[in-house]
Amino acid sequence: MTRLETISKYITDNEKVLDVGCDQALLSRLLAKRGIYSIASDLRSNIIEKAKEATPKPFLSYIDFRVGDGVTLKDNENNFTLVLAGMGAYTMLDILKNTDKRFDKIITISNNNNDMLRKEMLKLKYKVSLEEIIKEKGKYYNLIVFLPGTTIYSEEETIVGVNHQNKGLLKEYNDYLIEKYSKITENKELVKVVEILKNYTY
Ligand SMILES: C[S@@+](CC[C@H](N)C(=O)[O-])C[C@H]1O[C@@H](n2cnc3c(N)ncnc32)[C@H](O)[C@@H]1O
Repeated sequence: MTRLETISKYITDNEKVLDVGCDQALLSRLLAKRGIYSIASDLRSNIIEKAKEATPKPFLSYIDFRVGDGVTLKDNENNFTLVLAGMGAYTMLDILKNTDKRFDKIITISNNNNDMLRKEMLKLKYKVSLEEIIKEKGKYYNLIVFLPGTTIYSEEETIVGVNHQNKGLLKEYNDYLIEKYSKITENKELVKVVEILKNYTY
């Protein structure tokens, strides 16, 4: 299953979706195939023009294309699932801090700093519901589904994640990280992360 197919798997047929940073709007096409309405939104107008042109006609009635920085919902648009994929954790947090909108669900695939993202999302009152490691073209991605709410994470949960769905791939990913980080012995934080990853029970 690809990254975008995995995101789609965590969206049910009755949800409305805002995909911020949609690029080619490929997720919206997958959702349209299932009859799900979505807003495909991106900073760059040329990207949105291209995405619109490349979208097969039958899907167009399910997709609203919008140009804008961050959340592009109107005042009367509420109860959306937000997707933030293929950008850094700090960009995702900026997008959330710059809107008054609350979301029923937020699905992230951050390029980096998932430990920081889990912690900062708690401050915004979103807690992790589940996670899944995805491998696409030899690269690992950590998908997180957040729901409204608060909780307290252990140090292990902050670093490895919560309620992982694909434990086999999680182990493969963690073994890859252990090998990578073990070479950087001068960084005390990473030494601690390696210890936590080594002691993780699958
Ligand atoms: C690497 S692409 C990811 C595309 C797609 N979401 C995916 O995961 O395959 C990142 C996209 O995010 C857009 N982007 C970055 N910051 C944004 C912001 N603040 N608001 C809207 N779009 C943004 C960029 O223009 C770019 O098209």
